[in-house]
Amino acid sequence: MGGMEADIEQILFTREQIAERVKELAAQVMGVYREKDLTVAVALTGAFVFAADLIRNLVETVDVVFVRASSYGDGTAPQREPEVQLCGEIDWRGRDVLLVEDIVDTGRTMQALLERIRGAGAASVRACAFLDKPSRREVDVRVEFVGFTVSGSDFLVGYGLDLASRYRNLPYVGTLRPEIRGG
Ligand code: IMP
Ligand code: MG
Repeated sequence: MGGMEADIEQILFTREQIAERVKELAAQVMGVYREKDLTVAVALTGAFVFAADLIRNLVETVDVVFVRASSYGDGTAPQREPEVQLCGEIDWRGRDVLLVEDIVDTGRTMQALLERIRGAGAASVRACAFLDKPSRREVDVRVEFVGFTVSGSDFLVGYGLDLASRYRNLPYVGTLRPEIRGG
């Protein structure tokens, strides 16, 4: 197994910082939903790490479902409009849905997913992203819950975020060395 650590240029958010922030976010989410039954829609694949930590900090009962939007191939730039898939046989009608994403970049993926879930009849849909890169935004999409806002436009990996399916299992978030990211 090749060491991932050697490819990392800089650590942006440590394991400890992430754990603390996820706990705060979970408290914020619980404050908004209170008595409501919540359906957590996890955007595959990147958000599964964040979502796993987030839901374990929610003390209320939640349903967990998966959704998928693919727009990235193996590169670091979007290649086409996101294709959306709602996985599983659930009836979305009347549900209060929290859509969980790893990162909002141009906003196209989040927008496509939100539209699709609303179209399926959800009573409410709110967006929660572990990371937000507002400088890269191309569409206006409301993200109600954000873990960390990233000021630059660097490509990030770790804590679910990948480059060509690698680095998802890093417990922290970092940038890649230029020779790795092809910069
Ligand atoms: P958007 O549609 O441009 O907002 O892109 C969102 C999707 O692109 C996310 O779900 C990620 O999978 C991927 N993405 C965007 N920026 C990064 C990054 O810095 N690292 C890894 N994946 C990213
Ligand atoms: Mg993704």
